[in-house]
Amino acid sequence: MTTEFPKSLVLVGAGKMGGAMLEGWIASGLQGSAVTIIDPLPSAEMSDYCAKHGIAVNPAAGSLAAPDVLVLGIKPQMLDAAAPTLAPLAGESTLVLSILAGKTIANLKDRLPKARAFVRAMPNLPASVGRGISGAVANSEVSARQKAIADTLLKGVGRVEWVDREVLIDAVTGVSGSGPAYVFYLVECLAKAGEAEGLPPELALRLARATVEGAGELLFKSDLSAATLRQNVTSPGGTTAAGLHILMADAGLEPLIAGTVRAARRRAAELSG
Ligand SMILES: NC(=O)c1ccc[n+]([C@@H]2O[C@H](COP(=O)([O-])OP(=O)(O)OC[C@H]3O[C@@H](n4cnc5c(N)ncnc54)[C@H](OP(=O)(O)O)[C@@H]3O)[C@@H](O)[C@H]2O)c1
Repeated sequence: MTTEFPKSLVLVGAGKMGGAMLEGWIASGLQGSAVTIIDPLPSAEMSDYCAKHGIAVNPAAGSLAAPDVLVLGIKPQMLDAAAPTLAPLAGESTLVLSILAGKTIANLKDRLPKARAFVRAMPNLPASVGRGISGAVANSEVSARQKAIADTLLKGVGRVEWVDREVLIDAVTGVSGSGPAYVFYLVECLAKAGEAEGLPPELALRLARATVEGAGELLFKSDLSAATLRQNVTSPGGTTAAGLHILMADAGLEPLIAGTVRAARRRAAELSG
């Protein structure tokens, strides 16, 4: 898809994820003068950042025309409270780009009745270091140009995978949205296991953390599949094979991860409304 920035963008909720996205857009070429943020209490860092880049913050109510793109970066539970402020900003030709976990396009349309074009996306925490991955879905009213704009905006913080059915966003949430926490927990488990085998706790933590960092970097840089990378470090009868024998047993990691992702996917579906 071509890189395409909107002429005007309003970001509602410039917290952790909204703020990371904003910084990604500006770094990748969006002019600050095209952006307005609405956030009742932006952090001091965010206020300084906006001042530095000529980004308007909290203009007077009613002074803002409906923008090309309205990005929703508030917490899902804030949507109802924010809806009266947002509805006039979501005009007929505005693309609404939402990253609200669990809120469906139908939920958004209920609150923003004039808008027709909606993209619902699920980014993840590594967006804060520019290495996120977002799953995204567009409704049928989204034009090719609007989809290219949404793609550009989401790529400001990493990669984008488009899905064609909205229900798949819940599965995306279960895999990549919640996934970073699973990986952090893996580090905790690996460190505890090292400790149980006699390593000093701090050393076990450093080893576990650096292992996941390094393996992640290798996945990032290598063209090989995860399975090939695993096979390449597993000599028959060796130490890794002995460990993997436990991890890959019938009741090992695969069913555990399947249950983990299913629980997160179901919870994402429950949260819609
Ligand atoms: N963080 C992640 O890894 C992640 C991943 C995927 C999706 N998301 C989604 O991203 C969204 C934001 O999450 P977050 O972690 O960035 O939360 P956050 O840091 O709390 O950011 C939300 C921001 O919205 C502001 N806000 C609250 N009410 C508002 C209103 N009525 N109008 C405008 N702004 C308002 C908050 O201000 P106050 O702090 O003053 O309340 C805060 O600055 C959520 O919907 C979440 O589902 C987050």
